[in-house]
Amino acid sequence: MERLLEHAERLGLGPWAGELAALIARKQRYIAGVDAKARRYLDTFASLPEGAPASVELASDRVRIGDPGDLDPASRETLRAALGDYRPWRKGPFALFGIELDAEWDSSLKWNRLREHIAPLAGRRVLDIGSSNGYYLFRMAAADPALALGIEPYLTNWFQFRLLQHYARVPQVYGLPVRFEELPDMAGYFDTVFSMGVLYHRRAPLETLAAMRRMLRRGGELVLETLVIPGEGELALCPAERYAKMNNVYFLPSVPCLEIWLRRAGFTAIRCVDVSRTTGAEQRKTEWVNTETLEDFLDPRDPEMTIEGYPAPRRALLIARNPG
Ligand SMILES: C[S@@+](CC[C@H](N)C(=O)[O-])C[C@H]1O[C@@H](n2cnc3c(N)ncnc32)[C@H](O)[C@@H]1O
Repeated sequence: MERLLEHAERLGLGPWAGELAALIARKQRYIAGVDAKARRYLDTFASLPEGAPASVELASDRVRIGDPGDLDPASRETLRAALGDYRPWRKGPFALFGIELDAEWDSSLKWNRLREHIAPLAGRRVLDIGSSNGYYLFRMAAADPALALGIEPYLTNWFQFRLLQHYARVPQVYGLPVRFEELPDMAGYFDTVFSMGVLYHRRAPLETLAAMRRMLRRGGELVLETLVIPGEGELALCPAERYAKMNNVYFLPSVPCLEIWLRRAGFTAIRCVDVSRTTGAEQRKTEWVNTETLEDFLDPRDPEMTIEGYPAPRRALLIARNPG
């Protein structure tokens, strides 16, 4: 976290350095003092073995940090135990000093669906909202952005990121354990904002989209991925309680409805580049996941429906521009 402040001037973050410093200090106090799980995560972090990867590979589907030979066997076992403490590993895959972290989600599939459609990330300032353990930040870094900043409030995911970056040390990549709403008003700072798997968690999606647009420079790009319902009507589903067992899902629009939301939030050049049903090839149980997964969320008699009777998860990927 401090590294972002150290590099604030170089990254053009000077106007917000004070607010960012206060936010980071608040989060550090929270992690160290309030939350028992976070304190355990800190202890685990302190027990990590020393190790420097001879090489890091970010451009392949499986992000590879080091090789088995870069760490002695005893240290590898210590590391494996730490990785176990940080379960569940939702996003991946990673290979860390030869330990295969096969996460619940094969996140390479989403990245491969979007990579050809976005503006090249070289030299850009990129924000990833809901960056989880940083899988996409690492993939972005392969394109040499000026900055790939991930924000992820859920501490298990953020500690996973911290562990991976502790070893990978990718210079352009930074992560903060904060919510989007907590960021300073960094109007016009970012060239690209990613929001993937976040919008359906928001009670006021139009306001969230407008707030994302505000963070973008004129001509900057939003990469938006969210759950949608099938159909051409300008409609959104609002689940009565849960959707696929999640209790924090508010609105699932059709693609035409989502395009309207983007337009009404001020975006232009709106393109839907993909709609995919989520399958068991993309989301499934692995040894690194100790929770339920997609197959538990679907109706066992009709996998086209969720267990609550709603259309099964499908996700749309849209790209839009801030006209300024
Ligand atoms: C469904 S996951 C998607 C992760 C990743 N972006 C992807 O597409 O695979 C949603 C993530 O957003 C995070 N999140 C939820 N609310 C958020 C908020 N207000 N600001 C930033 N991140 C948030 C969650 O903790 C979670 O890691």
